[in-house]
Amino acid sequence: MSFVASTGSERIVCVMVGLPARGKTYVAQRVCRYLNWLGISTRVFNVGNYRRKNAGAEQSHDFFDPDNAEGNIARQMAAVEALEDMLNWFERDDGVIAIYDATNSNRARRAMIIEHCEKRGVQTMFIESICYNQDLILSNIMEVKLLSPDYTKCDAEKAIEDFKSRIKHYEKAYQTITEPELTFVKLIDVGSQVIINRIQGYLQSRVVYFCMNLHIARRSIFFSRHGESVFNVAGRIGGDTDLSPRGKQYAETLPHLIKKHLGDNELKVWTSTLHRTIQTAEHLNYPKSQWKALDEIEAGICDGLTYEEIEERYPEEYANRDDDKFNYRYRGGESYRDVVHRLEPVIMELERQHNVLIIGHQAVLRCVYAYFMNMSHDELPYIKIPLHTLIKLTPRAYGCDVEYFKLDIDAVDTHRPKQTKATKSLTSVTDTDTDANTNPVIPEK
Ligand SMILES: *[C@@H]1O[C@H](CO)[C@@H](O)[C@H](O)[C@H]1NC(C)=O
Repeated sequence: MSFVASTGSERIVCVMVGLPARGKTYVAQRVCRYLNWLGISTRVFNVGNYRRKNAGAEQSHDFFDPDNAEGNIARQMAAVEALEDMLNWFERDDGVIAIYDATNSNRARRAMIIEHCEKRGVQTMFIESICYNQDLILSNIMEVKLLSPDYTKCDAEKAIEDFKSRIKHYEKAYQTITEPELTFVKLIDVGSQVIINRIQGYLQSRVVYFCMNLHIARRSIFFSRHGESVFNVAGRIGGDTDLSPRGKQYAETLPHLIKKHLGDNELKVWTSTLHRTIQTAEHLNYPKSQWKALDEIEAGICDGLTYEEIEERYPEEYANRDDDKFNYRYRGGESYRDVVHRLEPVIMELERQHNVLIIGHQAVLRCVYAYFMNMSHDELPYIKIPLHTLIKLTPRAYGCDVEYFKLDIDAVDTHRPKQTKATKSLTSVTDTDTDANTNPVIPEK
């Protein structure tokens, strides 16, 4: 299955629509991260950045008054410049989806965008964010706008007042989408209601489905690899063995660690279908589910072997793997790219959920971690996910906080130096895979 192949020559612009502080940039960034993670080349073009570059950052709210001719011209110029850059990007960088992030709050502006895009054979899809909930708007102003480059030299109260005045200017001229011929999705109060119109094709429906699952409630995603397994001790990869005595000790201690960092909040525990993750979850007293999609990367003919045996029996396999680890597919098994695609439903469900603990495997957790931390496919196969360590991710408006809690229970270290020239990066030198052990280097916090 390949998402990229199925897109053919399709090129789409997702045009954000909405008043300031409606979470447009939040939605834009999330959609961008999701699509790039899937391997669909996506980029956000933020008109505000062009406006700041041209007109300077610290403009007071008068600049945004529709009756201010000078402000209008400057904003129009920024809009066109961003649009042209975006359309060139499709051709220059083989882009598939661009996200045009601005208020785009009247029909004339939307018609102008459609006209430019149609000339270049690019589809347009509008994503309008509407908030009736005033608390959402205020919290958006507090959390996001005060950090904005527009307000770096301003005190908070003044910034909020100025921003509210800016919103008032936009409200005067705001036209919600009513054009029946447009392809659009309206997100009301971040997904509590969704209206769609003329959505067509695979990619557009993916974007809609993703937007429907977004929420902004505070929550944390916890990750842990399973405790040390019998195969870890033997230095073998894959398999479906039980926990070692030290792995069992980790499983016994995990509930205290979770409780310490979760408090009395609700939690769902997801494991793979393999014994070592189910046994690691054994003492956790929360609702649990097993996902086949969370099973470790399938190592094919290499399953159950040690790294020395692989090198001896299939030397060319090993060399290929070091060249392009993300795309390398174990003979009779999977690549990281395959794992990303089978994890897509897990990610979609994670977006809908609140607190979740995933007890998983090294390669699989690397893929999930890369999604939340917005890491590239090149970096992904080298992410460090140490054994006997709890990782806590807390998504924020932009980005994600990450904390590591390492338990003081030893685990084997089967770390295996990379067998290629010394030219490759240091991170890859200590790397191993498919649940073989890495050296836990991150100190306890
Ligand atoms: C994610 O990474 C891409 C590419 O490196 C970058 O353009 C984008 O701004 C990042 N998004 C966030 C939310 O950091």
